[in-house]
Amino acid sequence: MVTAGMAPRQALAQVEERLAAAGCPDADFDARELFRLAAGRDPHLSDHPLSPDEAGRLEQVTARRAGREPLQYICGRWPFLNFTLAVGPGVLCPRADTEVVAETAIQMLEGVQNPKVLDLCAGTGCLGLGVKAFRPDAAVTCLEKSPEALRYLRENARCALAGLPEQTQPAVQVEEGDLFTRWETLPPGGLDLIVSNPPYLTAQEMTELQPETAREPAMALAAGRDGLDFYRAIAVHYRAALRPGGALVLEIGWQQRQAVTDLLAAAGWTDIGCRQDYAGNDRCVTARA
Ligand SMILES: C[S@@+](CC[C@H](N)C(=O)[O-])C[C@H]1O[C@@H](n2cnc3c(N)ncnc32)[C@H](O)[C@@H]1O
Repeated sequence: MVTAGMAPRQALAQVEERLAAAGCPDADFDARELFRLAAGRDPHLSDHPLSPDEAGRLEQVTARRAGREPLQYICGRWPFLNFTLAVGPGVLCPRADTEVVAETAIQMLEGVQNPKVLDLCAGTGCLGLGVKAFRPDAAVTCLEKSPEALRYLRENARCALAGLPEQTQPAVQVEEGDLFTRWETLPPGGLDLIVSNPPYLTAQEMTELQPETAREPAMALAAGRDGLDFYRAIAVHYRAALRPGGALVLEIGWQQRQAVTDLLAAAGWTDIGCRQDYAGNDRCVTARA
């Protein structure tokens, strides 16, 4: 139990031990984040004993994390590229692996002025906002179906990039809609880039989730029996919405490269490639219309 008067390092060691005992994968990192959240200071840079308020807050957030609530939900905000997103129950936590997808999308827009961009399955908006953060001249629309996720997306569209230079507000347009039907009303050839991190878990993977992932919305994860339902729809229906040579950038699961490549090739996409994330796993499939 964390109590008032404890030295920061003593409290930190105790929190870490409890998180490790609860099976949290990165107990040392999480303990430091929780300490910062509860006390507003770094446990390694301060010797000041915990006040009763700080100890109470740290005890509370430690219990939540030991119950395997995602760290991002407890913090309520999470960094992505050079900005910070609002995050919480009802929306997928932005992952560090997804930064590679945003970086790839930004690179694929090099040389295109005032690009028109669509982020399908936007969640917090990390991808669409990631493009906008580095390409203020882009017109970005973020499409999302879940009403819970849309609450975070709208807030992030208003606030996440507010401190960055050259940004207009709202940073991106938010649209409530369904990937499986939105293509029907998109004007042909109107877009320069489609970026998406759609749900991609198989039915089997949905039965084997880590406790933290099981707290995230199933709608953000489940993609049919083979995990490919969303890629199939994108491959078949969204090429016509891009101008000839327009770019597609998709996050994939680490074992999905071949299956997604095959779907895109069969639907007539060209220049199909793949990028790895910083752990060396296949993470991002790219193609041209
Ligand atoms: C894997 S999450 C990705 C969220 C965000 N792009 C990211 O990278 O963190 C997929 C998102 O797709 C949304 N979604 C699920 N089905 C959808 C559909 N039919 N149409 C549009 N969005 C959908 C989910 O609510 C969720 O926010």
